[in-house]
Amino acid sequence: MKDRPIYRKVEQWEIYDRMAGSSIYADTDKKFLPSERYDWTLLTEIELFRNAVKGCEKVLDIGCGTGHPSLYIAEDVGSIIGIDKSERMIEIAKNRLRKSGGNNVVFEVGDAASLKFSDKSFDAIILCGSLATFSDKTKSLQEIKRVLEDNGKVACIEANWQYQLTHERRFHGEGNFGFTEKGLIRYRYVRRLVHPHKEIDYRCIIDQNSVLGKKLLSDQHFLKRKTLKTEMSIEEVEPYCNDIEYDEQEKIDPETIARLFAENGFKDVVVSGYGVMYDLLNSAGLVNKMAPYMKELSKAEAAISRFLHPLKTEMLFLTCKV
Ligand SMILES: C[S@@+](CC[C@H](N)C(=O)[O-])C[C@H]1O[C@@H](n2cnc3c(N)ncnc32)[C@H](O)[C@@H]1O
Repeated sequence: MKDRPIYRKVEQWEIYDRMAGSSIYADTDKKFLPSERYDWTLLTEIELFRNAVKGCEKVLDIGCGTGHPSLYIAEDVGSIIGIDKSERMIEIAKNRLRKSGGNNVVFEVGDAASLKFSDKSFDAIILCGSLATFSDKTKSLQEIKRVLEDNGKVACIEANWQYQLTHERRFHGEGNFGFTEKGLIRYRYVRRLVHPHKEIDYRCIIDQNSVLGKKLLSDQHFLKRKTLKTEMSIEEVEPYCNDIEYDEQEKIDPETIARLFAENGFKDVVVSGYGVMYDLLNSAGLVNKMAPYMKELSKAEAAISRFLHPLKTEMLFLTCKV
């Protein structure tokens, strides 16, 4: 009988390091398109962060990726340092910075859980979608507290798992066979958990000589389309593959995010929501008509964010102080 495959855990920042250079983490200047729901959300994020840190002298963006939102809000603050654990993300951010010509932004490699800055060196810290990806959230929040001046601010954005639970996600697993660039059969399985809120993403290579491998290689539908959705769980596929790589991400809801900050000694914690503008316009058939006002409408959404109940929005915006 075949030994159980070895499960190898990969940290979130490593996944982002691999993703750097593709899709939204590509080395291109973002053109915001009215047809893209996601772009409306990005514009609102820029406004939310701009409003939160306007006039601050020294801002730290932790988990800055390729520079969103730092590159867009730099003109409203004294200076910004963006750090990320992924070297490749930082390389791209630096490239984008060179092209934008901003002179008050610096990007460098750094770890949220062990900041190299001295105590009380920033008056604001921003986290755009990065908190959920930090392996050690408590240590990272303690570090954030240490490097913030008295009364310093935090602004943080996260996706709302509670919303996704009720509106979007299918909460069993999703499996998919496909081919790697080298022609090997790969299997990807995403498991979504409600308690605790967690997403586990498995990736493995199927042994081509196994029963399953042979079956797939004789399946004309799979060979033609090069992809095959399946109900098979990772446990069912496990006997036909060798090592299995996986990453897991703790997901965040309004209550969890507020508790995380409060438990770590932050005060004046306020959680609000955003991410509704596109849906509103779309349901009224107005997306195209309103395209010229995309920026203004995103500003309006940022302004009304504090009235949007965070349980009912896809995205969460938190502000607090030390
Ligand atoms: C969802 S991406 C967000 C990137 C960017 N802020 C944006 O909105 O496009 C999360 C980022 O956090 C980074 N990250 C994860 N763990 C980190 C850590 N411990 N220290 C610094 N950055 C980290 C990842 O490498 C990734 O680039």
